[in-house]
Amino acid sequence: MHVLITGGAGFIGSHIAAYHQAKGDLVHIVDDLSTGSLQNITLLLNEPNVRFHEADILVWPELERAAAWADRIYHMAAVVGMRRVLAEPTKTLAINIAGCERLLRAVRAGGWHPRIIIASTSEVYGAGDHAVYKHEHFEEDADLIFHSGFNSRQNYALSKFVDEALALSYAHMHGFQVTLTRFFNTIGPRQTGRYGMVVPRFVEQAVDGAPITVYGDGKQTRSFIDVRDTVRALDLLAGLPATAGEVVNVGNDREISILELAELVRDRAGSRSPIQFVSYEDAYGAGFEDCRRRRPVLDKLRSLTHMSFQWTLEDTIDELIAAARRKREEEAA
Ligand SMILES: NC(=O)c1ccc[n+]([C@@H]2O[C@H](COP(=O)([O-])OP(=O)(O)OC[C@H]3O[C@@H](n4cnc5c(N)ncnc54)[C@H](O)[C@@H]3O)[C@@H](O)[C@H]2O)c1
Repeated sequence: MHVLITGGAGFIGSHIAAYHQAKGDLVHIVDDLSTGSLQNITLLLNEPNVRFHEADILVWPELERAAAWADRIYHMAAVVGMRRVLAEPTKTLAINIAGCERLLRAVRAGGWHPRIIIASTSEVYGAGDHAVYKHEHFEEDADLIFHSGFNSRQNYALSKFVDEALALSYAHMHGFQVTLTRFFNTIGPRQTGRYGMVVPRFVEQAVDGAPITVYGDGKQTRSFIDVRDTVRALDLLAGLPATAGEVVNVGNDREISILELAELVRDRAGSRSPIQFVSYEDAYGAGFEDCRRRRPVLDKLRSLTHMSFQWTLEDTIDELIAAARRKREEEAA
């Protein structure tokens, strides 16, 4: 199989690339390295069945050719991470919408119908008081509510929702075989804490013995899926004809409060780091609205794929702690 991965040098994309490389598929990665890195794919670059292009998908002249070559496309390229999304509201909208639209247009021009997986997000369910989560209806067919007016965080959700609408429209008009996957918090090796991701940040703080900084009161909950379970879910979904034209939540439904997560990371690391509460305002600026609960409804994912999770939260955290320790040792040496 020929697999094209946009954003394939990023956290999730690099795991998708490694998975398909190991299966013997031909893998073509395109990434502008804006948040991804060559380090994420170093081991893959020597493999004969992997090709890499450093390019921006908004202007990459070879996108049509790459799309026409592919049997399967994973569209992961996007402006992501809370810090980046808050700092770059126009870029978030422009890149996320234009990138997806250009990819879909390129596929149409190729005249060939690859299987397409588009990365969407649980953020489309909403963030603050208006969020669907209040009623705990994180179901794929829930109606979504967006605020009027400027809201930087919402721009990310809007951009991803437009991507969903674009892809579904291409499916409707041109018979595209596309699946929209709404990712809930995904964790694992190679994820960086630089753009506001909580687990890598807690792990680094615990390993360094620095205060573990919990934003807000820590009672807000999240559910974390290991990236390798995500990758298997995506492969299963892409292999099923029944998922074409569908929106599917991809996550793990074990729920944990952020304070409990901080304590868990500290315990697993055997660290003495104090836990320090930081207001949302200090962390993200005035007016930031957080989501109190976020736990995916996985009935659709389970009924379609019958998958079970291979990674527990503890397994992933232990691996991340070991990797952070190795990195510190290398730096010290
Ligand atoms: N990690 C999560 O918990 C999570 C949750 C919800 C949704 N998602 C979605 O999953 C996808 C992958 O996210 P990730 O966590 O791996 O983030 P990431 O930042 O590691 O990956 C995104 C990749 O896209 C690349 N990229 C950005 N703009 C590009 C452009 N114009 N042209 C080419 N490449 C470009 C970046 O360099 C990066 O490698 C994103 O679409 C994101 O919105 C992730």
